[in-house]
Amino acid sequence: MKFFIDTANLEQIREAQDLGILDGVTTNPSLMAKEGISGYDNVMAHYRAICEIVDGDVSAEVIATDFEGMVKEGENLAVLHPQIVVKVPITKEGIKAIKYFSNKGIRTNCTLIFSSGQALLAAKAGATYVSPFIGRLDDISTDGIGLIADIRLIFDNYGYETQILAASVRHTMHIIQCAQVGADVMTGPLSAILGLLKHPLTDSGLAQFLADHAKVNE
Ligand code: E4P
Repeated sequence: MKFFIDTANLEQIREAQDLGILDGVTTNPSLMAKEGISGYDNVMAHYRAICEIVDGDVSAEVIATDFEGMVKEGENLAVLHPQIVVKVPITKEGIKAIKYFSNKGIRTNCTLIFSSGQALLAAKAGATYVSPFIGRLDDISTDGIGLIADIRLIFDNYGYETQILAASVRHTMHIIQCAQVGADVMTGPLSAILGLLKHPLTDSGLAQFLADHAKVNE
């Protein structure tokens, strides 16, 4: 499973990249706003800065909601850097835009997916990734991981190459469950990725090894 980090914070992206296990980055307008990035030139410069830190795909979301606007924005984003993947919401106009981008060889991430029907439509339109938001489904007492499993079944039934990018991952168990049900990618916060490292027996075991080593190597 690929590991993407879900942030526009350059420091956190650098920290994850330094671990050597980072496969890409996802951003959204809220995450860009959280970093105080505004204005066309600053937004484009920020995406470029992210691409310079990581080796993998970087999702950059369109703001327009109409087909023409999405196409214009998406084409500008796509030429910004070869690692950019154009993120498009799952709407009627969005599906048309994904089909258009797919025909042009521009890679897309279809976002705000909350049902398997939405994922199926996005795959049919040729999306490179679909982003089901598992944390937001869990927030309203709906089974986010179950949705990933449903989409996996549907895509495998028909051999769709669209990758399932589990988004809105909130904690370590989400990451493990995504891997169990066969998500191609998960995108989550640095805290969830680093949380996978933690085990008290690792800490106590290492402390014991170092203490035993010290006893005979004074
Ligand atoms: C997806 O790409 C989104 O950026 C993100 O995962 C949303 O997560 P949230 O529900 O924690 O805001």
